[in-house]
Amino acid sequence: MERNGITTREFLIGDYDRAVVLWNDVEGVEICEGDSREEIRAYLERNPGLSRVAEENETIAGAVLCGHDGRRGFLYHLAVAPAFRGRGVGQLLLEDCVQGLSAAGIKRAIILVADDNSLGREFWLRNGWEDITGALPMARDVGGGTT
Ligand SMILES: CC(C)(COP(=O)(O)OP(=O)(O)OC[C@H]1O[C@@H](n2cnc3c(N)ncnc32)[C@H](O)[C@@H]1OP(=O)(O)O)[C@@H](O)C(=O)NCCC(=O)NCCS
Repeated sequence: MERNGITTREFLIGDYDRAVVLWNDVEGVEICEGDSREEIRAYLERNPGLSRVAEENETIAGAVLCGHDGRRGFLYHLAVAPAFRGRGVGQLLLEDCVQGLSAAGIKRAIILVADDNSLGREFWLRNGWEDITGALPMARDVGGGTT
């Protein structure tokens, strides 16, 4: 997709280092388990084309991870570099993800927003996402290749 000089394209493993710099730079995104280079490589291979980067003149303006499990779509680590904010880059990345998930036959997508990220929450609400009422996110470690 292209808008206002910003182009979006598939997130490639070659973008990993620059994406990590971006994620480390912004408030509201936390690099965590599952985010090593090899884990992201596997994630991208499992969900071809769904994760996206936005660029202007080959500078990374934003990035997002996106995938699905065959039933629900998931978006992670949406971030736009501070110098590029307010120009629709976040929205462009979201549109790509929504289109990609829809084309894959997925009907609903889920994101997790840190409870202290009120600006992030406003962005999602503004872009058509809603709170999940009556549900609390829960998680546990399941090992993932370790014995
Ligand atoms: C949230 C973030 C991705 C928004 O990126 P962006 O490129 O500045 O957003 P856009 O320019 O595409 O904005 C799209 C729409 O959302 C609105 N919006 C953007 N940021 C907003 C905010 N903080 N509060 C309220 N509305 C916001 C814009 O006004 C625009 O709405 P409009 O089309 O009605 O004018 C960016 O601020 C960011 O990287 N934040 C830090 C990381 C983060 O919190 N990510 C989300 C993790 S859950």
